[in-house]
Amino acid sequence: MIGTEIEAAVRRVLEGGHYIMGEDVAALETELAADHKHPHAIAVSSGTDALLAALWALGIGPGDEVITTAMSFFATAGAAARLGATPVFADIDPSTFNLDQGSAISRITPRTKAIIPVHLFGRVADMDRLRETGIPIIEDAAQAVGSSGLGTGGKLVTLSFFPSKNLGAAGDAGMVLTSDPELADRVRLYRTHGSRPKYVHHVVGANLRMDTLQAAILRVKRRHLATWNEQRRSNAATYRELLAATPLMLPADAAGHVWHHFVVRAPKRDELRAYLREREIETEVYYPLPLHLQPCFPGAKEGDLPEAERASRDVLALPVHPDLTPAQLQYVAESVTSFYR
Ligand SMILES: Cc1ncc(COP(=O)(O)O)c(C=O)c1O
Repeated sequence: MIGTEIEAAVRRVLEGGHYIMGEDVAALETELAADHKHPHAIAVSSGTDALLAALWALGIGPGDEVITTAMSFFATAGAAARLGATPVFADIDPSTFNLDQGSAISRITPRTKAIIPVHLFGRVADMDRLRETGIPIIEDAAQAVGSSGLGTGGKLVTLSFFPSKNLGAAGDAGMVLTSDPELADRVRLYRTHGSRPKYVHHVVGANLRMDTLQAAILRVKRRHLATWNEQRRSNAATYRELLAATPLMLPADAAGHVWHHFVVRAPKRDELRAYLREREIETEVYYPLPLHLQPCFPGAKEGDLPEAERASRDVLALPVHPDLTPAQLQYVAESVTSFYR
């Protein structure tokens, strides 16, 4: 059914001959702004570019420091580094995998210009203490699209529509949400090489525009997002029940959690992963090397952020996507149980 709707949307765009931005992009912005209860949504070319545009809009550049979590996809820190700022890594709260607020606050200096908490795996990060610092917050919500909890801490919220995300395009796409009209205006300016009107450039931005095709496809899929996220929640609840007696440490539910991944902490993680692979169960490790230890960010050493490092050694994501059948969930749970027996 959704295949037919998507085919019709794709055909409509191809026949319309308008391939970049346009009505579908504007409509998607309106729809996702309303869904996330934000007055402004600016469609961009990826989640990475959403972060870039958000940082640009805040005026972040060389000499500035941006505090973020050591446990995230590379783009969270890479965007700050690409603008010449220094990513400063803080440790995680081991019970949620999200940025530990105390660790982040202890790293604030006069050069700190932004803090980027990540709503990792779909769970909204605690931001109350970060907000009290008054330092601008960018919420990296690449993994939490559709959550009801976005924007409680941040001036800007960034989304990704990478194909495997909760709302996935057929390629790259992303979005920035904000309640601040001036920041929204700056994001829009940076999205098109800083030009306004055409061929008059006020700032050096980039081409961060969204393809019309992606917007048209996302508009179809968006109508199913709430149902899919509900299914993810239900799958996570089933796992918590079925896996309760295993040695796994299970992720807790939380308000606004959209379960992008179901990440457990597993004794003998690599052996378990190999065992599950033999049984044709796909798992993934998010992330095997914390950001502060990445070769492109020299200076840190092992032991600096012990919780993030410990997590990188024992986390494992079990399949939680909305298409899983009850029998498949049961099979995963039985397989994990039999591994530890
Ligand atoms: C936490 C996080 N931030 C940023 C990104 C970057 O998004 P994209 O792949 O759309 O550039 C991703 C996704 O891959 C992500 O998971």
